[in-house]
Amino acid sequence: MARLMSIIIITVMLPLLVSFWAPTGNMQQQQQSFELSVQHYQSTCPNVSSIVTEVITSLTARSNVVPPALLRLLMHDAIVQGCDASILITSTLENEAERDYPESQSIRQEAFDAVERAKEAVEAICPRVVSCADILVLAARDAVVLSGGPTWEVPLGRLDGLVSSASNVAAALPIASFNVQQLASNFGALGLTLLDLVVLSGAHTVGFAHCSEFRDRLYDFHGTNQADPSMDPNFVETVKQNCPPVEKDQDASTIVPFDATTPLIFDESYYLGLERGEGLLFSDQVLFSDPETQSIVSAMASSQQLFFDSFVQSMIKFTSIVALQPGNIRNVCSTFNRRTDDNITAKPSLFRPECCCC
Ligand code: HEM
Repeated sequence: MARLMSIIIITVMLPLLVSFWAPTGNMQQQQQSFELSVQHYQSTCPNVSSIVTEVITSLTARSNVVPPALLRLLMHDAIVQGCDASILITSTLENEAERDYPESQSIRQEAFDAVERAKEAVEAICPRVVSCADILVLAARDAVVLSGGPTWEVPLGRLDGLVSSASNVAAALPIASFNVQQLASNFGALGLTLLDLVVLSGAHTVGFAHCSEFRDRLYDFHGTNQADPSMDPNFVETVKQNCPPVEKDQDASTIVPFDATTPLIFDESYYLGLERGEGLLFSDQVLFSDPETQSIVSAMASSQQLFFDSFVQSMIKFTSIVALQPGNIRNVCSTFNRRTDDNITAKPSLFRPECCCC
């Protein structure tokens, strides 16, 4: 029976899904064909991948929240002007950086620390060669693998961005109350399709969310004084036990797993949960409620292999979006290089001078 299902998925559903991969309308316009390569550091830092893996593996052995935290950190980096490590910059008196945007403040410190530790380990072997943006993508790949998900070779060669501003986040970052059209608009702005949206949301197979992100769904959905009807009533009652109404909540730090069955395992059960009405965020459950994306959720729910293969494709696409600005290789991931030791490298095809000179 299971074999028959796989054959049906591969022969009937996969070709259907491939049509979702085609970007719609003008979605592709801003995506750059940046030349990343798995060989990028072959002569300058051939062991970069294994150095990063060693650090992330050892940190995960000490704290199992490192993998989900890294995946979320990557999402927040990639969705705002592409993968350029702009999320890693700390604010200064003059500049409120991306990571201090309200929705980004809950990214776990463990993720920032993990990238910094990996960078230190890489710098010790290959100084000033490997970008923080590449290290973050490698670490996110390791996060997936260490959680039981698929592996892949990461195309490398990103530069670290020279801008990180909280004011750039609002327009790019999707939030938990978004419907499919709003989510598609954010993802589409980067050339990502509905299939990418559903597949990348599958990262919510690991990790947790604070009650504040979905409490309205439990108690007062859209001002109805009722729970969100797309949620399973038993699931609503279970989650209410952890997340009381706001006036009775003593602990704003309470978190609930996205995937109640296997919260730290990278598998297809996030999608099975959506089919049961157990999506935690509105933006999760809507992927099953909306007819445009329901069939993709069902396909992912029915085959872990299909989810894994699709996730690898969409992650490579997501992490290959790179900034339009010039960049460099940061010495320390959380701060821009000083002017004196800077080595700005503008990729000619990407460089957009702000003003023109004579
Ligand atoms: C589709 C739009 C998305 C929305 C609206 C969204 C929103 C959220 C929210 C609200 C949280 C909980 C934050 C908290 O309460 O601390 C969260 C956590 C998380 N997100 Fe997303 N997310 C989206 C897509 C993604 C993508 C594309 C990825 C990765 C590829 C991702 C990975 C994660 C992970 C792993 C966590 C758990 C973090 C942890 O436990 O430390 N998300 N997301």
